This record gives sequence, structure tokens and C-alpha cells, in this order.
Amino acid sequence: MTVDSIGPSYGITVSRHILDSQRHHPEATGDLSGLLSELIVAAKTISAEVNMAGLGDFLGAAGKTNIQGEKVQKLDAFANTNIKRRMARSGYVAVMASEEEADAIPVVEGYEGKYTLAFDPLDGSSNIDVNASIGTIFSIHRAKNDGYPGTEVDLLQPGRNQVVAGYIIYGSSTMLVYTTGEGVHGFTLDPTVGEFYLSHPDMHMPARSRYYSVNEGNTAYWHPEMHQYMRYIKEVDKTTGRPYSTRYIGALVADFHRNLVTGGIFLYPCDTKNAAQAGGKLRLLYEAAPLAFIAEQAGGRAITDDGRAIMDIVPDGLHQRVPLVIGSKLDVDLAEEFFAGKRS
Ligand code: AHG
Ligand code: MN
Ligand code: MN
Repeated sequence: MTVDSIGPSYGITVSRHILDSQRHHPEATGDLSGLLSELIVAAKTISAEVNMAGLGDFLGAAGKTNIQGEKVQKLDAFANTNIKRRMARSGYVAVMASEEEADAIPVVEGYEGKYTLAFDPLDGSSNIDVNASIGTIFSIHRAKNDGYPGTEVDLLQPGRNQVVAGYIIYGSSTMLVYTTGEGVHGFTLDPTVGEFYLSHPDMHMPARSRYYSVNEGNTAYWHPEMHQYMRYIKEVDKTTGRPYSTRYIGALVADFHRNLVTGGIFLYPCDTKNAAQAGGKLRLLYEAAPLAFIAEQAGGRAITDDGRAIMDIVPDGLHQRVPLVIGSKLDVDLAEEFFAGKRS
């Protein structure tokens, strides 16, 4: 029997996909593939817990407040510990940052690897108790020195330096979406065998959409240009497909994923409510930057509302916040024109 007569393969697992991509890089040592594999194990564990949340002891707050002053949900704490402990002994990571921890997280001595990992263990955690989609977001950079304990300095790199970015969305199915800078690929978890299979190869975001995702409860805090933009996309004009429709889940990862698949724009602009934190709510290192990398790789854009590319911002702190406008390219272009005062 020849190899050809065996027939097509039954579905590409994420491990196969990662190893196939590694083959395009003869210089690769396999460390990045190893790191992703470990992260995927953590994701599958979190997915299993999320699916059991209604049955177990996980609903509700853990009774603590994190360094952002927000209530820590029990699943937040579970996801954080799970990723942290697994990666700290993986041998692939030099230092980590998590939304749930104030400081850089060291790895176990003797296990220092060459990458940094920044993560939001559970994004959209206020959705846990209502059975809506939540996710885990991650961002990987090269550490400055291979094999040494990393520090905050290793983590404070612009999104443009990311080696990998991705998220796992715990929705009606669990999906992993990631990019290594060679397109965006989506995998769906088959829970019966515990494998992620390639379901969305080479994802592209439609250039123009008819959907916007924004918390309109914040209208009173917006700047005038945001008001003008919102008024425009809600006007009736069939020739330009307006008014747009609203879709807002309240979990960035879920709102972004929807817009990635169907097209759309997500805005969390600079507002007076968040004036104490540079006007934005969302975190640069483990929310905005990884999703910006994915958006750009899928043909979309991600900017602040003063027009800076999210990918170019050099972080000045682990928990730095930024205004975020992200999604379909032509929609972000249009918002940028309004915000720059070129349209009104
Ligand atoms: P997290 O649950 O990790 O703290 O993130 C919540 C974030 C983000 O997921 C979402 O887009 C945003 O908060 C929603 O904020 P509002 O409730 O202010 O709309
Ligand atoms: Mn988050
Ligand atoms: Mn979170």
C-alpha cells in the first residue's frame, strides 16, 4: 500500500498544526511548540471547569479583590493558578504577568526558558454566573536573555514584538484562536476526545461590517467625537448599510471573536469614567495587544482613539490600560477619521 492510497487525514489537531508550522522554521528548537502545548493543556482543564461551573462550587465571587480593585471570581482564581503553576515548571518561560497578580510572576528556579507569557486567565468573568461566553487571552514574547530569570523589563515590550498571541473562548463550543504572525487559525475542542481540531483555517475579518460593540451605558462619559461617530453609524442610509446593529456581550474576547468571524467594530474609547487610568479600561499587555496582533493578521486594525496603533505602544506598566478601537479595517478607519476631527 502506498502512502497516497491511505487517503486524506481525519482532521488536523492543533499539535499537528503547530509542528507543521515549526517545519517552516528549521532554526526552531521546539520550545515554542512545547510552550503552546502546555498552555493548551491548561486551557482544556479550564474549559472543563467552566463547563462544570453550574454544577460545582465555582459560581460567585471568591471573596477577594484583585489589584485592579475588581471582585475575583472563583473561576478567575482557578484559571490563574492553573496556568501559573503549569507554566512555571514548563522550562519554556522566563517570567509571566497575569491580570490577577500585581507583580511579574517568576518561574521555578532551574526552569527558566526563553519566552515571556502575559495572560488574562478569565476574560469577561462577570459572565460566569449567567452562562455567557468567557475566555483566556495570552501573549508571548522572547525574553531578553535566554535561560535566565526574567523580570518586568522582559514583559514590557510592544505588541509588535509578539511571537504568538491567542485566546481560548469558552462558548457554545470551546475554541482556540492563535497567530504566530502567519495568519490566524481557529480550532474547536472535541470534548469527547479532548482534542482541538482545525475548524477555521486562515481566518479573515470582513473589511467592512454592519455591527458595533460598545457599552452604551457609558454614553455620558464619552468625548464629542465619539458621540459624532455613534450618531453617524446609527443614521438611516440604506446606500451605506446604516444603521449598524449592536452586539455587546461584555466579555472582550467574546465580542472580539464575534467580530472576527462576522466583521464588526469594538470600541472601549477614552472616557471620563476612566480618567484616572489614561482614559481606557482595557489592559494593554494581556487584552489589547494580543487581540491587536490577531486583528492585524486577519486583515483588521486596532488603534487607540487618538490613532496610535495598539501594536506600537511601548508599555510602561504590567497593568497599563488603553482606549481600544478594534475590528474590521474600514470601520476602524472610519472611526479614526471621526476621532481625528476629519468628519463630523
Ligand atoms: P475581565 O473580566 O478580565 O476583568 O475583563 C472585563 C473587561 C472586558 O472583557 C470587557 O470587554 C469589559 O471589561 C466590559 O466592560 P464594561 O462592563 O465596562 O462594559
Ligand atoms: Mn479581561
Ligand atoms: Mn480577567
